[in-house]
Formats: sequence, C-alpha cells, structure tokens
Amino acid sequence: MQTATFALLVKDHERVKSILEELLDTPVSAANRRRDRLNTLKQELQVHEDLEERLVYPSLESRKPTHGLTLEAYQEHHVVDLLLDELESLDFQDEDWKAKLKVLQENLLHHVREEEEELFPKAERVLTRDQLQRIERQLDQAKGG
Ligand SMILES: [Fe+2]
Repeated sequence: MQTATFALLVKDHERVKSILEELLDTPVSAANRRRDRLNTLKQELQVHEDLEERLVYPSLESRKPTHGLTLEAYQEHHVVDLLLDELESLDFQDEDWKAKLKVLQENLLHHVREEEEELFPKAERVLTRDQLQRIERQLDQAKGG
C-alpha cells in the first residue's frame, strides 16, 4: 500500500488507465472522439511524466537499491511517448491504430505496476522522511494543491 507521498501519482495512474479503456472502446467510426481522447491522454501523460522525472526519479536514481528500476522507468516513459507520437500520426481508421493503442496500454500497465508495487515501496524505504515529505509537498504544489 502507498503512503501519502505517492498518492497523487497513483491517482493519476487510475485516471490514465480509465482514459485508455475508454479510448479502446471508442469505435473506429468515431474518429473525432478518438482524436479528442488521445489528446487528453497525451496531456495527462506529459504532465505526469514530467512530475515524476523532475520531482521523484532524480533522488531514486542516485540511490543504489532503486537505481536500476529508475533507469527502466525513464525508458518506459520514453517508449510510451514514442507510441503516442506514432498514434498521433497514424490514420485513426487504420486497423493498426487499435493494435498500437493496445500495445501502449500493455506497456503502461506494466510501468504502473512496477512503480506501484516495486519502485514506490522501495522509495519509501530508501528515502529519508524529509525527502519523502519534500516530494509530497512539491507534488501537491505542482498539482495546484
Ligand atoms: Fe511513470
């Protein structure tokens, strides 16, 4: 279970997962809706990745127990970004579009699971209470809280 530090990020994960579900359920005939939802997904992911990469990952990358997982997390963000870019430039009617989206979902679920089950719990062990509280405060501020 997550402590308060990463609660906002976990909430983001839930939101992104549900946008993805909706997008997968959007029929090929509703191209405008696909475009809209994809834009929403992209905005959500950009903000979320930026927060993690700016406020969370640096202190985890510098600690040995979380170093490798953090490097992986950066690469997972990178792959998700690549897939998003490809989805944007691909014809929404193309049958590969949904296949690509499905692969994006699989990548994202893997990434989210690894963060929630491994990286964040480890972070709570390797970071000091002060570091965790600072991260929590910065996330709160960034979210306008
Ligand atoms: Fe992430």
